[in-house]
Amino acid sequence: MFSINNILRENIKNLTPYSSARDEYQGEASVFLDANENAFGSPLEQQYNRYPDPLQADLKRRITDIKGVPPRNIFLGNGSDEAIDILFRAFCNPGADNVILVPPTYGMYQVSANINDVAVKNVPLTEEFQLNLEGIAEAIDKNTKLIFICSPNNPTGNSINRTDIETLLANFNGIVVVDEAYINFSRQKTFIQELTEYANLVVLQTLSKAWGLAGLRVGMAFASEEIIEVMNKVKPPYNINEASQQLALQALANVAQVNNWIKETLAQRDRLVLTLKNFDFVVDIYPSDANFILVKTTDANGIYNYLVKQGIIVRNRSKVELCEGCLRITVGTPEENNTLLQTLQDYK
Ligand SMILES: Cc1ncc(COP(=O)(O)O)c(C=O)c1O
Repeated sequence: MFSINNILRENIKNLTPYSSARDEYQGEASVFLDANENAFGSPLEQQYNRYPDPLQADLKRRITDIKGVPPRNIFLGNGSDEAIDILFRAFCNPGADNVILVPPTYGMYQVSANINDVAVKNVPLTEEFQLNLEGIAEAIDKNTKLIFICSPNNPTGNSINRTDIETLLANFNGIVVVDEAYINFSRQKTFIQELTEYANLVVLQTLSKAWGLAGLRVGMAFASEEIIEVMNKVKPPYNINEASQQLALQALANVAQVNNWIKETLAQRDRLVLTLKNFDFVVDIYPSDANFILVKTTDANGIYNYLVKQGIIVRNRSKVELCEGCLRITVGTPEENNTLLQTLQDYK
């Protein structure tokens, strides 16, 4: 049985979190002389002289409207990268615990593990880029705290079989993190609706992809109240700055615009796949549920270097296990995709 108390680090269990100036009063006030801010203002048109809301109540309310998840089940991070790091810091004892990764997958899980001195057990995906459930079951030991599943997966683009993720959730006594950074582009349903079913589920999403706000750094984690409380306890007090909170709130009113971009991205993705298939140097294009495609080529380094010279940057993934010969290409605007395809026509 999963119990948060069995996997939480002792020092986090006993942690008294930082109490910010604004945490320490209740009710209405008009004179704030508690936080050593500049009371005169900011040398800008917009005023940022006050610390932001540490728990981002307004932004979370809006996210609740969109996702149907109550604020108490939402954590907001400085990008979902911060949520990833906080999961390590809250649950993994450095030098003792381990996590399971299923490469090829998003690189920050490994980097966060390294930073936190947490061992990684790699159980590679199958040739079809699906989970090796037997391998994962064998790799789990009493110090395994987290399993990261990215679905749709970066860099392969496919969704991971839902029933396999459910098998892990039902049988693993640690936390299963389902990273849905690309879910808005996917035909698959989000795991958010499984939160009531599984106490050990953390779903990550982000405003950096479909929502077009990578520069604001706002990532979301959805989980049980207990897990969210722990994450809030560990995070820096003001982890989402005021400008990001305000701008994200404004952006979240433009759902229609974002939905149009998603439709356009999917149409452009189909077009890229159809056209790229005809090039001699394209060996395979893997099915994608994301806003990028993984393309197996005869000469990834040659094509990559050629494109760089023409001012077009794609991601060379050819050194990644199971991605030999592969380039990861993000779907651009129609004009950008035209430029890419025209430039590739001249590749020899
Ligand atoms: C799978 C995955 N998760 C998380 C992130 C990071 O997102 P954020 O910008 O919210 O930190 C990325 C970014 O590329 C990603 O591909």
